[in-house]
Amino acid sequence: MADVRAAILGTGRAYPEGILTNADLERMVETSDEWITSRTGIKERHRASESEYTSMFAVEASRQAIERARIDPIDLGLVICATVSPDQILPSTGCLIQAELGANRAAAFDLAAACSGFLYGLTLADMMIRTGQTRYALVIGAEVLSRYVDFTDRSTCILFGDGAGAAVLGPAEGDRGILSTKIYSDGRYAEQLYSPGGGTRVKPTAETLAQGMHYFKMKGNELFKMAVRSMADVSTEVLNEAGYKPEDVKLFIPHQANQRITDAVASRLNVDSSIVYSNIAYHGNTSSASVPIALDECIEKGKVSEGDLVLLASFGGGVTWGGALIKW
Ligand code: ACO
Repeated sequence: MADVRAAILGTGRAYPEGILTNADLERMVETSDEWITSRTGIKERHRASESEYTSMFAVEASRQAIERARIDPIDLGLVICATVSPDQILPSTGCLIQAELGANRAAAFDLAAACSGFLYGLTLADMMIRTGQTRYALVIGAEVLSRYVDFTDRSTCILFGDGAGAAVLGPAEGDRGILSTKIYSDGRYAEQLYSPGGGTRVKPTAETLAQGMHYFKMKGNELFKMAVRSMADVSTEVLNEAGYKPEDVKLFIPHQANQRITDAVASRLNVDSSIVYSNIAYHGNTSSASVPIALDECIEKGKVSEGDLVLLASFGGGVTWGGALIKW
């Protein structure tokens, strides 16, 4: 066992130029800016064009992360692309990204844990670095969810956005780095958020496409309650494991699903709203990309300094959830 923690050495983010506003949605389904804003906090979200696809944003975000980490792509031993909207079934989007980056010595694969994908990837990369299996790892959350959104279903089409965030991890200096991580899932709730068609169970045919079976179906109300409880509990757990309290946290980045979920988690944890980051208004829910996009924005805005405790938490389809505590 190498006795070294993993730290985030560089981050990046990318998303389509195309923007879908609440006003646009008002013209597509029976909804209103007032309803969407008050129920979710979302004002607009990025939407890929027909010629844009997941790995394009992943590669752009990764290049930024690699440059900021000041490493050579050939030194990456691991490339994880967390996504539920891959470029294609085979090969993995991770391998496509690896080729674009020239990270030819890495193991590359996709990780499907929906909105918790980045935290799952962070956990695996941390383990690989701490055990000496690899020195540098690239973890990406990338989605073009708009391909799986039914733009006639007002309960889901208002929520999701497209984009990618990436982080390069490597050996930490001193007592900095990832202090604790926890990941969980409960497949008994699989049908709270799922796409029934398009795989081997219901193979894609003209009929299943016409029936919209490849689109996301969601029970928003139940997910809402589970998301609040799970993100608050896993946050408490990673804090306890590292011997810290919520008041020690300098920056809290929860998965950006709904402003009301974020507020409820912060209130359960009893953390001040001033340390809770939110970009939901202009990104919507970008699933696995949400936490790394938010993290990169926080770094750019100078919201995190050396020695700060940064808490990450997520919840998503599966259902899956996870938390991580990082000493910056
Ligand atoms: N515009 C106007 N009315 C709407 C819309 C809309 N876009 N969508 C739903 N409604 C209506 C419903 O039909 C319902 O009408 P009814 O009372 O006549 O039946 C009413 O608004 C209330 O619907 P609810 O579903 O109870 O509304 P809620 O306050 O729960 O908000 C929402 C729905 C925004 C989906 C919320 O439940 C949510 O955000 N859940 C979390 C879902 C989520 O984020 N999933 C992603 C993955 S999991 C995760 O990331 C946490």
